[in-house]
Amino acid sequence: MTGSAADADGLRAYPTADGSFSLESERFGEPFHNSAGALNEARAKFSRPAELNRFCAADRLRILDVCVGLGYNTAVILENLPEPTPAVQWWGLELDRRPLDLALEQPTFRGLWRADVLERLEGIQANDGWSDPPNIGHQLWGDARTALARIPDQQRFDLILQDAFSPQRCPELWTEEFLAGLSARLAPGGRLLTYSRSAAVRASLQRAGLQLYSLLPAPGERVGWSSGTMAVQPGGSCTAEGPGWRPFSPMEKEHLFTRAAVPFRDPDGEASSSEILEKRVLEQQACGLEPTNAWQRRWRGDAALQSR
Ligand SMILES: C[S@@+](CC[C@H](N)C(=O)[O-])C[C@H]1O[C@@H](n2cnc3c(N)ncnc32)[C@H](O)[C@@H]1O
Repeated sequence: MTGSAADADGLRAYPTADGSFSLESERFGEPFHNSAGALNEARAKFSRPAELNRFCAADRLRILDVCVGLGYNTAVILENLPEPTPAVQWWGLELDRRPLDLALEQPTFRGLWRADVLERLEGIQANDGWSDPPNIGHQLWGDARTALARIPDQQRFDLILQDAFSPQRCPELWTEEFLAGLSARLAPGGRLLTYSRSAAVRASLQRAGLQLYSLLPAPGERVGWSSGTMAVQPGGSCTAEGPGWRPFSPMEKEHLFTRAAVPFRDPDGEASSSEILEKRVLEQQACGLEPTNAWQRRWRGDAALQSR
């Protein structure tokens, strides 16, 4: 596949390692998916640890997709719903319509999904969701910080799929305040899933009262010290180890006491990314926490250490 067919202003198409179509953003300076491939990543980090069989014969499954992009995460969840299928109440947050438009133009992307799943993606594109009671879908376009507040107060979620660009590129969607807002939307036992292993993100989720687990790598992904985070609202049952996750290692626990754990902050919900990053550097300089490179040195030799 060549990139040119799907190139749009600031978005460049590329095939990922598993052959699935993805994009790279010039504005954010980052690809939408990791080297394992878009489809592999969506399955390993979102649908597998969601343990969808828990919702077999349940009345409903409530999902919030943060940064819908090309729609992979929602699509893998819909593809893997258990039978008998629960009613799906779905909300999506996304700034830019073009990633989904570009994906739906690609025959290879369309060919990945069952007809009913493709119909849902087309519903997001054309109708901002769907209304097919008891299944409902609401796509909110715009900055996820303000869109989150437009979801009715009483709405809670069993699954939140947090797939923003990385904290250094898109810190506004990884702040203490935004993550607390997402955490507050989790139903008892609800799970927030993300590819991020950032100590700042994890520490914010922990302060929001969630229990943390480490995600396992997707097939084909380079094995490092962690491949993401599952954060669980107390009140349900979640085993220490499960399909796609394990407990934190001692190294990961210590990471939360280093400077890397200083949170991204955005108390008014409207700071620019550079303002958030600059303030965090100042807070890191003033904090008494261990420098992250001392932690790195201590654990050097452990699985391909890389701090983010
Ligand atoms: C890593 S991609 C998401 C990939 C997506 N989950 C998928 O499966 O294709 C990040 C997405 O965040 C969106 N985005 C960036 N800033 C945003 C913001 N402030 N609010 C909402 N979406 C944002 C980008 O347009 C992009 O689609």
